[in-house]
Amino acid sequence: MSKLSTFSQVEASPTVVVQTANLRSGSKLQRPLYDSGGILLLNAGSEITDAIKTRLLERQIEQVVLSREDAAAMLSEAATPSASKTGRRKSRPALPLGDQRHEAVAASISSLVRSAGMPLKNQMMPRGKEPYDRHFAQRLASRFATTTKSVELVMRRVIQGAGGDASVLAEVMGGYIREMEQDLDHVLTSSGNLADVKQLVQRSLRMAMLGMAVGIELGLDGAKVGEIGTCALVHDWGLYCLPERLRRPNEPFSEDDWEMYMRHPSLTLDALERISNLSPVVKLASAQVHEMCDGSGYPRGLAYNRIHIYARILGPVDAFMSLTEARRGRPAIVPHDALACLLHQIPLGRFDGAVIKALLGALSLFPLGSFVRLTDGQDALVIRRSAKDYTRPVVQYLRLDGPHAPSDADPPQTIIDLAESQLEIAEVLLAPGKTEMRLDRSLMYDVVWDGPEA
Ligand SMILES: [Fe+2]
Repeated sequence: MSKLSTFSQVEASPTVVVQTANLRSGSKLQRPLYDSGGILLLNAGSEITDAIKTRLLERQIEQVVLSREDAAAMLSEAATPSASKTGRRKSRPALPLGDQRHEAVAASISSLVRSAGMPLKNQMMPRGKEPYDRHFAQRLASRFATTTKSVELVMRRVIQGAGGDASVLAEVMGGYIREMEQDLDHVLTSSGNLADVKQLVQRSLRMAMLGMAVGIELGLDGAKVGEIGTCALVHDWGLYCLPERLRRPNEPFSEDDWEMYMRHPSLTLDALERISNLSPVVKLASAQVHEMCDGSGYPRGLAYNRIHIYARILGPVDAFMSLTEARRGRPAIVPHDALACLLHQIPLGRFDGAVIKALLGALSLFPLGSFVRLTDGQDALVIRRSAKDYTRPVVQYLRLDGPHAPSDADPPQTIIDLAESQLEIAEVLLAPGKTEMRLDRSLMYDVVWDGPEA
């Protein structure tokens, strides 16, 4: 669905602006490649290589102009397609971050993190079309409650200047990774049901689950997946150094409020200096979660190849969550439309396309926990991804009488793997008991989601 729209965007213009870092190595150009000033960089027939990309970036050519044919070829095959249209989003001025720390950021960043250990993906237990186990659900609920308290304790101490030890956070993430190995789909669905996502620690836990799932999908090892989770847990601690009203999702923001709000990643970095046993990479990536690949983020306006992969993962996850939460006058957007919105945004260059695709792989196009109506007229809950087709997940019929939620006590025929069924999803439903809205496709290029704007 999104791919069709992506191509129609590309075909509407003879040329497309693309982030240099997102050019696909190995592509052979059908037409010449120019810089944004119209200077010829490569002739038709040239092959894009890593060395050429590096040379362009060294010359500070961060964007190039491609023919639509070449851009379409890259979009259809590339792992990280990212054509940019200009002027969609107002650039934010970069805020000062100590030079020393900035140099440390630059020194620590590589454009890709290569995973040294075994991909955690290999450790995931396949669950086919099994129902959710109620004992596992109870254990998860209990884990969410206890870890919310322990993370909050560390955060409060650090914010108050007392210092803290990050090994508690690593243990928390290790516990969730073990649960994910047992049943990743169930963990992701349960994290969407956390009691109050308006509470920052609970929201950060949900973000950690989604971020780790993306890391797993990208083939990272357990250590790196755990670091992504820790990064999600701590990245917004700086918000607690600001007036309380700036943490309210429905508070109207003035321009001054927005300027103050944009300081929170730097305040997070200050707070994390007081915590021991926290990886420097986690600290630095935490301050980059609100950077965007096209340079329009904050606090520094860093572009793609200067943003750590952990932050490039957590940025879209944060955007997905913000879209699915009620914000400043608009209701929550249904998860399917929020994900479709991010997929539509890939050609605009704000996000790492490979990360959005991994989020799609982790949740399916009808994200885990979504409510749908099938072509047989019955309503169902998406409970598992399909190993075969991300557009046809495993669903479980909702009960027609009594509580909506399905149970593992329901007969097995209430669970359908749509990848193996004639049935299809006919309609996306709003979640029962929650105020949600569908998002018209015409708005999917223009939605903004960052804290105060969303
Ligand atoms: Fe934040």
